[in-house]
Amino acid sequence: MSAARIVQAVAQREAIPLSPRVHWVGALDPGLRSFDIILKTANGTSYNAYVVRGSHGVAVVDTVKREFSADFFARLEQVAEYDEIKAIVLNHLEPDHTGALPELMERAPNAQLYISNKAQMMLKALLKRENLAFTTVDTGDRIDLGDRSLRFLHTPYLHWPDTQCAYLAEEQILFSGDVFGCHFCDARLFNDFTGDFRFSFEYYYAHIMRPFRDFVVRALDLIEPLPLGLIAPAHGPILRDRPSDYVKRYRELASPRLKREIHPGEKTLLVFYISSYGNTARMAEAIHSAAQEISGVRASLYDLEGGDTETFADLLEEADAIVLGSPTINGDAVKPIWDLLSSLTVIDMKGKLGAAFGSYGWSGEAVRMIEDRLRGLKLRVPLQGVRVKLIPTPEEILQCHAFGRALGEELMGRREARVIDMSDLLTSQYSA
Ligand code: FEO
Repeated sequence: MSAARIVQAVAQREAIPLSPRVHWVGALDPGLRSFDIILKTANGTSYNAYVVRGSHGVAVVDTVKREFSADFFARLEQVAEYDEIKAIVLNHLEPDHTGALPELMERAPNAQLYISNKAQMMLKALLKRENLAFTTVDTGDRIDLGDRSLRFLHTPYLHWPDTQCAYLAEEQILFSGDVFGCHFCDARLFNDFTGDFRFSFEYYYAHIMRPFRDFVVRALDLIEPLPLGLIAPAHGPILRDRPSDYVKRYRELASPRLKREIHPGEKTLLVFYISSYGNTARMAEAIHSAAQEISGVRASLYDLEGGDTETFADLLEEADAIVLGSPTINGDAVKPIWDLLSSLTVIDMKGKLGAAFGSYGWSGEAVRMIEDRLRGLKLRVPLQGVRVKLIPTPEEILQCHAFGRALGEELMGRREARVIDMSDLLTSQYSA
């Protein structure tokens, strides 16, 4: 089909062939401007669903957001009778892909649901039905449709625990769910026809997949050996032109970029600060220079004033330790620090070393608030942060040095455990 014919067919609620036996039966949502509240979708999105016809039955792969059910059913009815539908494959249960599921189950009562093991609880919560019948599948399990079959790949946490992919070996088509998808609505559907969506593909990866990098790597290990003629994702263009390039790009995005430049055995410690009167800045410099003295520590210092926190995403992802310094203003840490902390939600920070410090006028809540947030993001915060009232004295600068050294030693696994005295618990200051 030409691009113009596809646009016309999509508008007329026709099913669009990917091949003689496989059709797109999804829906377009060009007016959407934000997804899940937080994601920008300047070009709208699509909810891609597919139908696979085998000699012994039909499988439906995913559905659409509920508001778009009419489009989905109109297309579906063009390529399958409801009593032919043998399988409903749910690669992911988020409502943008399961909105039409309850109605589909009513219309196609012979169909068996296929979900990943981790999707069971979600399916029950979604459908709120007793005696729900479904089959859980894992890597290597297959649905036999006669001369076509769907083989499953267990790819959890991309980006929910339940996510999986299905592979149609006879046509080398991967139904990948959200993986390799993006929010980019273009009625020409196929990546060799649509506008340039690279920015959206990268944005989607950065905000949806990046926090689960280890799981991306494991999924790629399963996907890369497959012969790929086409990738059929759940959002955005269908990738029939050089589909392997998108797999390769995921591998690049999921590969550490900075580790290669750091000597083996070195660990990175990043100190970010912002300072009103130079007091928190002096503390930052002392902590940074002391940490740098510890053998094996590669320490870096960054002033967040006027800075865009997004530029630090790669550094933060690769860092082994993050130390944040903020004054306390109106009982709070200041906005650039919260912006930086907010940016950490799209990065896997689990297990990294975290710490905080700062100068304050009279109450000094910022350090504890930052520490709490770091713990909430699953960083380790083993050292109580340093707080200094207004201008640091020479003794307090020495205390910052001790804090920086202790952080460096902790990072390198050389810090000796110390006995906590009750007096430590009564003071808000770090002492070493
Ligand atoms: Fe497209 Fe995670 O739903």
